[in-house]
This record gives sequence, structure tokens and C-alpha cells, in this order.
Amino acid sequence: MLNFTHRIPTEIRFGKDVTDGLPKVLERFGKNILLVYGGGSVKRSGLYDRLVSLLTGADFTVTDCPGVEPNPTVASVRRGVDLCRAKGIDAVLAVGGGSVIDCGKAIATGRYWEGDLWEMVLQSRAGRKSLPVIAVLTLSATGSEFDNKGVITNPETKEKYSSVFSFPVVSFCDPTFTFTVPPYQTACGSADIMSHAIESYFSRTEDSEISDGLAETIIRTVIHDLPIVLEQPDNYEARANLMWASTLACSGMADYGKRYPGKTCHAIGHELSAWYGVTHGESLAILQPRWMRLILKKDPSVTPRFARFARNVWGMTGDDEADLARRGIEALADFLANIGIASTLGELGIGEEHFLDMAVHADLRGRCTNSYVPLTQEDVLELFRACL
Ligand code: NZQ
Ligand code: ZN
Repeated sequence: MLNFTHRIPTEIRFGKDVTDGLPKVLERFGKNILLVYGGGSVKRSGLYDRLVSLLTGADFTVTDCPGVEPNPTVASVRRGVDLCRAKGIDAVLAVGGGSVIDCGKAIATGRYWEGDLWEMVLQSRAGRKSLPVIAVLTLSATGSEFDNKGVITNPETKEKYSSVFSFPVVSFCDPTFTFTVPPYQTACGSADIMSHAIESYFSRTEDSEISDGLAETIIRTVIHDLPIVLEQPDNYEARANLMWASTLACSGMADYGKRYPGKTCHAIGHELSAWYGVTHGESLAILQPRWMRLILKKDPSVTPRFARFARNVWGMTGDDEADLARRGIEALADFLANIGIASTLGELGIGEEHFLDMAVHADLRGRCTNSYVPLTQEDVLELFRACL
């Protein structure tokens, strides 16, 4: 097992009605709150009214920052930063899915950033001065509630980057807030959770059992609980397990003690979102099984890890490692093809025209070449073609 540092300063408050404690948490920072939210789901669900009456009842001044898009843009960050400066905001309260929480983190850091905010996104760096961020999670997917990253898009340059901002001080994770997530977003979020665990799992380090076991448990949890919530959106136990899986999967804990394998499918998936606005989890559901087939073909030395994936995640048995490896991948492909989201780029109306641009750009930070099985530009093109 390799050396590692565990440092996640975010306090997680998990379970029913935990947001009752929100005023007490916010009081630590001041009375002037920026409430960041998305396109309206929080209003339709009643969560907005519930939180605003809780806060105004405790003498907070709440400034709205609505309209954060899925795949949030730097324009939304600018809007929030302007509000923070104009209103003398003390803390950012982000209520929503990963897009809203990511945007809230970027706004909080942007408050103190002199200069262009897209430059701030590009200059990813820990320890930057930031307003405190408090998150209320409404969608199980990204793990933004428990990490310091924010993924921001610049539609003008067709770039989408993950940047380091600050950890939320406290994240409130009430699974009942996810009862209203539609099946499509529930499935996309679950594919994202699986991908986070998978991208940690496929590493060259073989002896970090806790990390590997955590990744396997997270993937098995999604396999077990996603079909339940697709049938019963208000099944508390299943929603709760998905929510905790979301929080842990992208926390880095499944990487502890392991050689960081690079998040190749994430790098490539961000290109699909930047060019075509593809929903994050859907891009991963399309890419992940094809990436597995490609790397297994390219480098058969990874067969034992795929065989372990088949045994420990899918409960498969057999002595033929190559056969197990193949069957494990196909089980994942079948699962992802049957959760109500696209499983090809063709279904999304995406053709070959920008494959080369995306392949070149995906590797700009070496995320394809310095990965578990290094991918050349030609490999990434082959992967895109396999997704058609
Ligand atoms: O905008 P509203 O109206 O709120 O609707 C949202 C949005 O349309 C809706 N939704 C959220 N909670 C809901 C709900 N609808 C009904 N009931 C609820 N309770 O769902 C839609 C998608 O929301 P979004 O926040 O975009 O989804 P997700 O949580 O999957 O976030 C995706 C973003 O996070 C980034 C992705 O790249 C993408 O930009 N990621 C962030 C990461 C991080 N911070 O570490 C890592 C991830 O790998 C990922 O890259
Ligand atoms: Zn992701």
C-alpha cells in the first residue's frame, strides 16, 4: 500500500430533517446568505420555501442566485460573484445537485479573485481564499458535497474543467430531498457514482484492500439500489444508500494507498459535455464499458483485475480469468443499457465530426496518456467510434 494523507474537513450531516440545524451552522459566519440554486426543482419540491422560511425566521437576509445550469457555466459564476460583492455576502448556501454545489464553490472563491474568472477556473489550486460554502444536496451523483472540486464550463471556448476550490464546511444530506429526482437524472447520477468507483478501482496497485473493497461495495450498492428507486422513487433506504455511495465514491477514499490511475473516462466525458451538453453521468455510461473493452484488448496484463471485478462486483465464478474479465464488462454494459438512459452517442444525435478535436483536447492534461492503460489519440478516436 502506498503512502496517503486523509484530509476531508467537510462535516456531513446525514438523514431525515438534518437541515433543521442549518441556521445554527450559518450563524457561525454571519447573517447575509447567498442562496444558490438551479432551474427550479427546489421551488417545485417545496425545499426552497422550507429553507427560506427557516432562515428568515432566524433573522438571516437571503439573496437569491437562481438559474445555475446543469454543466454550470462561468457566466453563472460571474453572476454569483457580482451578487456577493454587491450585497456583502457572508456565506454561500448551495442547494441542489453537483452543478449547483460546484458553482457555489466557484462563486465563493471568485468573491476574492482579482481578474478573469475563467482564468481562476484554469488555475486550479488548493488553499485559495474563499467565502464559507454550505451545501444542501438534492441529487446523488457527483460527491461535490464531500470534495473541493468544481467543474465549470466555458461555452465560448467549448471547455469544461474540474478546478480545485474549497471544501463545503458542512453538507446536509437528507435522502428525502432526492425523492423528486426524475428517473433519467437518478440513472445518470448512479452511472456517475459507479464511474467514480470504477475509475479508482482500475489501478496498478493490488494490495490496497480497504480502498478496493470500498469501490466494490459502492458499485454493488448502485446495482442493488438503483433498480429499486427507479420503481419506488420514495424508497428511503435505497435513496439513502445511493446518497452515501455518492458522497464516498468521489471523496478520493477509494484511491487511498493506490497509484492514482487518472480519471480517463471523466476527461473524455467532459469533452462530450463541453461540445454537446451531454449530461455528465450519461457520457460516462456510454464510455465506461467501451473503455473497459478497449483497454482489456490493448493490454491483457490487466485481465486479473477485470476478473476480480467480475467476481467481487457481479458474483461471477469460474477459473478462466479471460472469460470472467469479459463477462464482468458485459454485465456492466447490460446494466447501464437498461436504466433508461442513452447507451450510444448515435441516440444523442452525435456523429464523428468533432471526434478529433475532442480526442486532442481530452489529453491536454495528460489524463489519457498517463492513465491505467495509456491511451494514444488513435485509441481515444477508436473509443469514440465504438460509442456511435
Ligand atoms: O436545476 P434544477 O431545477 O435544480 O434541476 C436539476 C437539473 O436539471 C435536477 N435536480 C437536482 N435535484 C433534483 C432535481 N430534480 C428534481 N428533484 C431534485 N431533488 O437534476 C438536473 C441535473 O442536476 P445537476 O446538478 O446538473 O446533476 P449532477 O449532480 O449530476 O451534477 C453534474 C455536474 O457535476 C460535475 C459534472 O461534470 C456536472 O457538471 N461533477 C462534479 C464533480 C465534483 N465536484 O467533484 C465530480 C463529478 O465527476 C462531476 O464531474
Ligand atoms: Zn463524475
